[in-house]
Amino acid sequence: MMHSFTQLVEQFEDRLSKFLPFPEQPGTLYDPCRYFMQIGGKRIRPVLCLMANELFGEINEDAWHAAMGIELFHNFTLIHDDIMDKAPLRRGKQTIHDKYGLTAGILCGDVMSIHAYDQLVNVRHNLHMILHLFNRTSIEVCEGQQLDMDFEARNDVSIDEYIHMITLKTSVLLACSLKMGALIGGTTEGNSNKLYTFGKNLGIAFQLQDDYLDAFGETDKLGKQNGGDIKSNKKTYLLLKARETANPEHLKQIDEWLQKDGEDKVPAMLELFKQTGADKACRDAVELYSQRAFDCLEEAAVTSKRKQPLHDLASYLLMRDK
Ligand code: IPE
Ligand code: IPE
Ligand code: MG
Ligand code: MG
Ligand code: MG
Repeated sequence: MMHSFTQLVEQFEDRLSKFLPFPEQPGTLYDPCRYFMQIGGKRIRPVLCLMANELFGEINEDAWHAAMGIELFHNFTLIHDDIMDKAPLRRGKQTIHDKYGLTAGILCGDVMSIHAYDQLVNVRHNLHMILHLFNRTSIEVCEGQQLDMDFEARNDVSIDEYIHMITLKTSVLLACSLKMGALIGGTTEGNSNKLYTFGKNLGIAFQLQDDYLDAFGETDKLGKQNGGDIKSNKKTYLLLKARETANPEHLKQIDEWLQKDGEDKVPAMLELFKQTGADKACRDAVELYSQRAFDCLEEAAVTSKRKQPLHDLASYLLMRDK
């Protein structure tokens, strides 16, 4: 019996609530960690790992350890990301650094990343390969995050550079989650790579959608501040496309807004994204990369019936509003 997304999220949440690896003391370090891990989150990455594992048989214990490690690692990146992005809200709650201070933000992130490894070392099969994949992925996430920050100060970022940046900061972790699950499931390297490529394309679609929601989503549903990317001059697909397709007047307005702040900046930029058609272009790009992802999933050597939950999860991601 294959499990659905909802079932796997439930089981994962259950493990998480029983397991959380953090001791009581010092509370100033571990209370924020507990807080952050339990204020929600879609749990996409651990579920991708579990689903990939289940393609090849019953979910085994190693996959649960990997899933837990991946979710801890992801949460660590979010805590540090919120510091860098000066974000006040996450999952509808105050961010760690806002609520507990910068030190807590830095150290909770650090300790969580080590706990991620502490979970992974429980994996009994293929540990060397799994750790190697995880290390490479973590390094790429740091590279992507640095590029994301560097791009704030640049106005000549190309769409290709943007895709490269989001591949590193976001999609390789989705890809890694799938590949780990598959490797633990005992499949061939070739087959696990098909899933990796599926995850990479899915991750690109996912980050394009994230950028779209940051601009056009509703804070209440999203649980994050709206327009944060615009305020920080993030070089999102929306902004790059808007600049690429703008007429001279619109381009002048966009570039002026990039030079200044103010209450009107977010609504003005949103209007420009619409006038230039960048909003539609972004939705089309989500569609394109999703289609590529689905094509890669087709190629994985498993019966289509077994791939249904992954297919459903990917479809859900593209429809989401949070
Ligand atoms: C947010 O990831 C960071 C990105 C890579 C866009 P998620 O949208 O998966 O965050 P949670 O875990 O569900 O809160
Ligand atoms: C974050 O991208 C990617 C990582 C955390 C590695 P964003 O900065 O767009 O994520 P959100 O929107 O804050 O969740
Ligand atoms: Mg952010
Ligand atoms: Mg960021
Ligand atoms: Mg975002």
